[in-house]
Amino acid sequence: MKYSALKGIQDILPPDIYIWQKVESTALEIFRKYGFQEIRIPIIESTDIFIRSIGETTDIVEKEMYTFPDKAGRSITMRPEGTAPAVRCYVEHHLYNLSSPQKFFYSGPMFRYERPQKGRFRQFYQIGVEAFGVSQPSMDAEIIAMLRNLLEGIGLKEVNFELNSIGCDKCRPDYRNALLDFFRSRLSDLCPDCQRRYELNPLRILDCKVERCIELRQGAPVVTDHLCSECREHFDELTSRLQSLNVRYTLNPNLVRGLDYYTRTAFEVTSEHLGAQKAVAAGGRYDKLVEEFGGPQMPAIGFALGMERIVTLLKENWTEEHPAPKVFIATMGREAEIEGFKIAEDIRTAGFWVEPNYGGASLKSQLRKADRIGAEFVFIIGENELKSGKIQWKNLKKSEQGEIEIKNILAILTDNIQFSNP
Ligand code: HAM
Repeated sequence: MKYSALKGIQDILPPDIYIWQKVESTALEIFRKYGFQEIRIPIIESTDIFIRSIGETTDIVEKEMYTFPDKAGRSITMRPEGTAPAVRCYVEHHLYNLSSPQKFFYSGPMFRYERPQKGRFRQFYQIGVEAFGVSQPSMDAEIIAMLRNLLEGIGLKEVNFELNSIGCDKCRPDYRNALLDFFRSRLSDLCPDCQRRYELNPLRILDCKVERCIELRQGAPVVTDHLCSECREHFDELTSRLQSLNVRYTLNPNLVRGLDYYTRTAFEVTSEHLGAQKAVAAGGRYDKLVEEFGGPQMPAIGFALGMERIVTLLKENWTEEHPAPKVFIATMGREAEIEGFKIAEDIRTAGFWVEPNYGGASLKSQLRKADRIGAEFVFIIGENELKSGKIQWKNLKKSEQGEIEIKNILAILTDNIQFSNP
C-alpha cells in the first residue's frame, strides 16, 4: 500500500523550511515593533461564522469550504481564512473592553477546496494581522507600510501594491444600481452563478473566475466613481499618508476582493513572477464585522500573506546558506563513542549543533558523512585520544587539521581561536 498526501496538500521539508522560518522570524520581529501581539485561533470553527462574514455568494462559501458534521451533528468548517475566527475571538473575549487599538497577528494553515494549480493549494499557510479600534486612515497606512517593511525585510522587492476603496453601506446601493444597469443586457451570457449573484450581490460578478464573465465585465462601472464623500476623504487621506511613508502603490479600481466583509480600503500585493495566482498578500478594512458578530461598533483592518507564494518567490534568488552542524564527532570503539556523546552534550550546551557517531560505522564512512551533512569541524576520538586526553580535529571548510586537548574544545568553538597546523 502506498500513501501520498491529498491533492493540493503538500509537505514542507528541509531545506525549504529554512526559508519559511526566515519569513516567520522576520514577521515576528516586525510585528513586535508595531505592537502586534500573537493570538492562536482554532483551525475548526462553527460553519456559521464563515457564511456570515465571508458571504453566502462568495466562491469560498459556495464552493470551497471543508465543511462536515461533527459527531453531535453540528456543522463544522476548517477555516478558509483567519479574519472571521479572529473577530469571533475578539468579541468572545470582550477584547473591545481593552484600550484601543488592539493589534493581533496569527499564522497557520487555511483550507479551501479550490482546483489546485501553481501557487494554489487546498491547504495553504497564512500569516495574518488584524487591528481593531481605529477608523482613521492612519491605521490603514500603518499596516500597509508594515507589510511593505516585512516584504522588504525578507528580500522581496519586486512587488506591486494595488489599492482601492470599495465604499461603505452608504455608497454601496448607488454602486449596486450602476452594476445592475450595466449587467442587465448581459445577464443571459453570464455563468449560472453570476446570474444568481446578479440578484443577490452583483458586486460578486466582478470577482468571478469564469473566462466569459471576465470578458463581459469589461467596461463595468468602477466603485471609486460612486464613493460617498466620507469614503472619498478616507481614501484620499490614505493615499497621501502612503506617499508620506514612501509606500509605492498603484490604484486598481477593479480590485473588489473575494470576501464580502470589506468596507472602504482594499489592497493586494502582487508579483509578476508567479503566473496566474499572483497575489502574495491581501487585506482591507472591515468596519462592520465586529458588530455583526455581536460586539460593539468597532472599526478594523487587516491583511494576510500567502506563505507558499512568498516562499516560491524567495526560492528563486535564495543565496543564504542553510544551517549545518558545527561539529561532527567521529569515534572509534565503544569507550570513545561514550566520551564523544559526553563531549557532544557539552558543545550543545554551549549553543552549537553537534552530530555524534551513533555507533558501528568505520572512520572513513564517518568522515564521508561529516562532509555530506556539511559539518564545519570533525573531532576524531579513538583509543589513543582517550589515553592522551587530546583529540584530532579537522576544519572541513578550511582544510585545516590538528590536535587539541579535550578540555579546550569549547574555548576553541566559542572564542573562535584560529587553529594552526602542528
Ligand atoms: P485572501 O485574499 O483570501 O484574504 O487571502 C490572502 C492571501 O492568502 C492571498 O493573497 C494568497 O497569497 C493566499 N492564498 C489564498 N488562497 C490561497 C490558496 N488556495 N493557495 C495558496 N495561497 C492562497 C484573506 O484570507 C483575508 N482573511 C485577509 C485579511 C485579513 N483581510 C483582512 N484581514
